[in-house]
Amino acid sequence: MQVRFLPRAQNMKEGDISFRNKITRFIYKHILKPVFFHNDPERVHDSMTRIGVYLGNHPFFKKLTKFLFDYENPSLEQKVLGVRFKNPIGLSAGFDKNAELTDILPSVGFGFAEVGSITGDVCGGNPKPRLWRLPESKGLVVYYGLKNDGCESISKKLQNKTFSIPIGISVAMTNCKDNIVIKNAVRDFAKAFKIMKSVGDYITVNISCPNTEGGQPFISPHNLDYLLDLIDEIQIEKPVFVKISPDLSHSELDSILDILKLHRVHGIICTNLTKKRDNPNILDNNVPKVGGISGKAVQNLSDNMISYIYKKERNRFVIIGSGGVFTAEDAYKKIKLGASLIQMITGMIFEGPQVISEINQGLVKLLKQNGFKNISEAVGTGVI
Ligand SMILES: Cc1cc2nc3c(=O)[nH]c(=O)nc-3n(C[C@H](O)[C@H](O)[C@H](O)COP(=O)(O)O)c2cc1C
Repeated sequence: MQVRFLPRAQNMKEGDISFRNKITRFIYKHILKPVFFHNDPERVHDSMTRIGVYLGNHPFFKKLTKFLFDYENPSLEQKVLGVRFKNPIGLSAGFDKNAELTDILPSVGFGFAEVGSITGDVCGGNPKPRLWRLPESKGLVVYYGLKNDGCESISKKLQNKTFSIPIGISVAMTNCKDNIVIKNAVRDFAKAFKIMKSVGDYITVNISCPNTEGGQPFISPHNLDYLLDLIDEIQIEKPVFVKISPDLSHSELDSILDILKLHRVHGIICTNLTKKRDNPNILDNNVPKVGGISGKAVQNLSDNMISYIYKKERNRFVIIGSGGVFTAEDAYKKIKLGASLIQMITGMIFEGPQVISEINQGLVKLLKQNGFKNISEAVGTGVI
């Protein structure tokens, strides 16, 4: 169906976009969010995924979504590791676990999206409940345990698809007792890498899931070296990222960086969820004992890690900043500390999907204020 009566977002004036975002923010804050936050978070997420799949399958709804949420500006476009990004704001791994939303995410305004984490075998995840909200702390407690349909089924779904934004494939080890043995875990990773190697625009080695049976064994330099050796052998012809935990000490991080430099690794995602409960930004009582925490609790940890890595390694690794991005200022801070790209989930859940457009529009203003013509010029400028 032709949808000629809707103007394209790139033809809309900045003021019209701000007005549109104010309306969608109002509707989200006063109508949708109270309903969502009154219901079980996993059920809400599953329902949203079903709606997203439906919208993505219908050209009319795709265009309508684009009209409601998209924002484009040439100063946000950049090429990173040979991949073109229309804006720096991406969806973090864990929201689209089975890669069902790749048709609708570009219309929501994302510049890229990471699907998964995908594992070698089908993974049912941990028993429910496994997702909680922390309303005061603006965060979520995530204890999914890598629930996903497994690499074979997901690669079949994506194999012949074309994507209008870059798609990252996050790979993790299957959450099972067998993988407590490192050899098995590495074999499991390698299986998923081989099957997913020709899909998407970049691939991530997720070594920082806080909810797996064997903990995070690839923090150990010896185990990480062994894993990356095998991944090198697979000869993946696209950028490889490694996603790290915000709970690493500087010495653990230093050892990891030394190992990454020995392998075909192009970038680092800073960071995954935090497991620590003594975080001053956790304001809620009765935080579940299990699971990793997202949102505001991760923000400073992620920022500190970005600046530490950027100061130490400069442009040796491309950094994707993830953790506690709710506003354009939050995203810009990460960019100035050294991140070329940003990912988010929790900010979108707390603020509404229009926040992606709000952040992008805010970034354009901040770039102008600082005299930058393009987002890539701002990367690392806050680091002395
Ligand atoms: C519901 C949920 C599921 C997640 N699952 C994964 C996952 O499967 N793989 C992964 O690498 N990170 C996962 N994460 C972590 C996010 O990718 C991200 O690094 C983290 O939430 C910090 O970003 P945020 O504060 O913007 O949410 C998950 C986060 C959430 C909220």
